[in-house]
Amino acid sequence: MRRVLVIGSGGREHAIVWKLSGSPLLEKLFCAPGNPGTATLATNLDADIKNFSSIASAVKENKIDMVVVGPEDPLVNGLRDFFEADTDLANVVFIGPGREGAKLEGSKEYAKAFMERWGIPTAGYKSFGKEDIGSAYDFLDTLQAPYVLKADGLAGGKGVVIPTDLESARMELATMLDGKFGDAGKRVVIEEYLHGIELSVFVLTDGKDYLILPEAKDYKRIGEGDTGLNTGGMGAVSPVVFADAAFMKKVEERIVKPTVDGLRKDNIPYKGFIFIGLMNCGGEPFVIEYNVRMGDPETEAVMPRIESDLLAHFVALGEGRLGGEKVIHSSKSALTIVAVSGGYPEHFEKGYPLEITAAVEEDTLLFHSGTRKENGMVVSAGGRVMAVTALADSLNAAREKAYRGVSGVSFKDIYFRRDLGLDLLNFKNN
Ligand code: AMP
Ligand code: GLY
Repeated sequence: MRRVLVIGSGGREHAIVWKLSGSPLLEKLFCAPGNPGTATLATNLDADIKNFSSIASAVKENKIDMVVVGPEDPLVNGLRDFFEADTDLANVVFIGPGREGAKLEGSKEYAKAFMERWGIPTAGYKSFGKEDIGSAYDFLDTLQAPYVLKADGLAGGKGVVIPTDLESARMELATMLDGKFGDAGKRVVIEEYLHGIELSVFVLTDGKDYLILPEAKDYKRIGEGDTGLNTGGMGAVSPVVFADAAFMKKVEERIVKPTVDGLRKDNIPYKGFIFIGLMNCGGEPFVIEYNVRMGDPETEAVMPRIESDLLAHFVALGEGRLGGEKVIHSSKSALTIVAVSGGYPEHFEKGYPLEITAAVEEDTLLFHSGTRKENGMVVSAGGRVMAVTALADSLNAAREKAYRGVSGVSFKDIYFRRDLGLDLLNFKNN
């Protein structure tokens, strides 16, 4: 029986908590810091996730024997390494890579070099520091528009800029190297633009074997028809119609296997999730990015589609026997709608009371993304406030059910996209 702590406070963590809460292997579930949604299924702990000692104390006090990390920051900053250095925590099963493995997300330059080293398909690239701006301009001259410029380090999801003409690309490059993203942009990766349609593939690995979880597609732009500013994610769908068996076989052979093998050959022990952002270019998969955690809001669509016991998979991972596990993917479709505060991703208000005004249908899940309790009421506490997932026999049915679900969520200035999933309903494989 397991005492499990999930670290984080968003919709992703609520979905992971929800999935783990149904496991027969669970003794007690905790979330730090969690949110009012996780509080209905787990005990929220008041630990500061930036303060590793405070997490370690909470783990010891509550006799927690498994830690699942939601967001990337604690991983990139070495939370796993911190645990490994503490003999009292040596037996805790930790789902998430150490600092070295987390560089796959923490440094775009490192990730590109890793892919190049292990022959993993990705856009051609070069990386530059401020001192090489002349060569960077020369490299831009060899590329076709649009241009893809990526700050090397973590920049809160804002570090990728895609100028459409050479002049703006040169200007953007100069401001990035001049400190627009602080230290994260000290080096910039410039890469070829890939034309295609994106999807996210999720892998759970113990560094030797791996499980491929249900794939998903997220909707990053604020506006319908994928227009307007980039956001943390406005919705997600799983499965993804074009990720058929033939495509997923290519993903597994050309990307998943060489990634897990490459980490091992590089002597990087990796135990945790790998989120592979892919571009499907005419049926061929290319890696856009690695993340060392699950996606948000993809997790809210993926968890409901896992029929097997995720906690059993985690236990197997901890014991190095993931190879004997099988993930059962539901044949149903899931669609997640993220309800955001009006004005997001720019200026928005917080603190609006949240109401659920209609009965929640079966197979409809409300995951809290950005909420808190204030005077006994649940109020909005972030740009993304609530993720509504519906599971049904077809994408169209999931879509209709999810829109019925979100119509029962109410707070001032609520906004959500009304076109989620339509691109996949209309998708024709060419
Ligand atoms: P990232 O932060 O690496 O996920 O990049 C943000 C977004 O930029 C991705 O989700 C893609 O939509 C886009 N993007 C990144 N790299 C490329 C590329 N090489 N070609 C086309 N689009 C890209
Ligand atoms: N939805 C994209 C991410 O979690 O990075």
